[in-house]
Amino acid sequence: MAETRKRKRILTGDRPTGKLHLGHYVGTLANRVRLQNEYDVFLLVADYHMLTTRFEKSHIEEVAQNTRHLVLDYLSVGIDPERTTIYVQSLVPEVAEIFLIFSMLVTVPRLQRVPTLKEMMADLEIENPSAGLLNYPVLQAADILIVRADLVPVGKDQESHIEVSREIARRFNQTYDKVFPIPEGLYGDVATLVGTDGKAKMSKSLNNAIFLSDDEETVTRKVKSMYTDPTRIRATDPGHVEGNPVFIYHDAFNANKNEVEELKQRYRKGQVGDVEVKQRLVRAVNDFLEPIRQRRREYEAKPKLVEEIIDRGTEAVTREGRETVRLMREAMGMTYFKKFKS
Ligand code: TRP
Repeated sequence: MAETRKRKRILTGDRPTGKLHLGHYVGTLANRVRLQNEYDVFLLVADYHMLTTRFEKSHIEEVAQNTRHLVLDYLSVGIDPERTTIYVQSLVPEVAEIFLIFSMLVTVPRLQRVPTLKEMMADLEIENPSAGLLNYPVLQAADILIVRADLVPVGKDQESHIEVSREIARRFNQTYDKVFPIPEGLYGDVATLVGTDGKAKMSKSLNNAIFLSDDEETVTRKVKSMYTDPTRIRATDPGHVEGNPVFIYHDAFNANKNEVEELKQRYRKGQVGDVEVKQRLVRAVNDFLEPIRQRRREYEAKPKLVEEIIDRGTEAVTREGRETVRLMREAMGMTYFKKFKS
């Protein structure tokens, strides 16, 4: 059963609920691009997870389009389909099979204690969670362990889910035989990016996001209407740099660090207006996004490419899934049918 793998494996993914923005870039995408040099990376489009809260047909009808957007977002920031396996969760039936077996290895009270359950219920005003929503972390464990991943780079908000995955992996290994690595969360050290309105988090639903696919004009408009230092009335008033979203973005996206330092100094002394600081930010963000837009155009010009990438990734993960199910059945002694006798 011991496998010799050259590289450690990483698995992570997103629900196909819309376009990705600068907050995703800072929070996870930049990290994923880096990690593909060192690890075998699997990236899943978690459409079953989307169903845990958005199961209506109107949402399902958008999955194909949203998945295409998501994959183009991945490719445009530099995720390389030759090194990262991109696939769609619901196209791999073994995910559901593994999920089912895992659901026996965790108790209902344990899942009821997962903090994100209460958060999702509160956010979406759900009074009674479905069994599917309760099982959200179990499904995530199936995602991670189907490829027997070692590492899971995610936001801090996912920590409680990774903990459930680790418990399930341990429980399986102890109850049957050692099949799974105990996956570890890799939590980025980057704080979440504030929204253009100064609210704690950039988010599509809060309407305060700059998307990776925004064009120049849209970026200009959004930056110009950004929230800055509310205590400052005239350009000659000394301004606050710390916690000021405009400067947080300068720090994150402006490649010209000297310019940023100089602007900060002038801002603190009341020697530069918000208009100029924003104009420079418009340029910086557009410079940052330009290569991303360029790559998106190149990928978009090949209409079948996204589908082919998903097909190839899905086939690869299906092969992994079959092997994982085989190992699980063998460990469990569920080999009473010919199909699984080795
Ligand atoms: N729950 C994750 C999120 O909302 C998405 C996800 C689904 C995921 N399956 C996963 C992330 C497996 C990491 C590993 O962000």
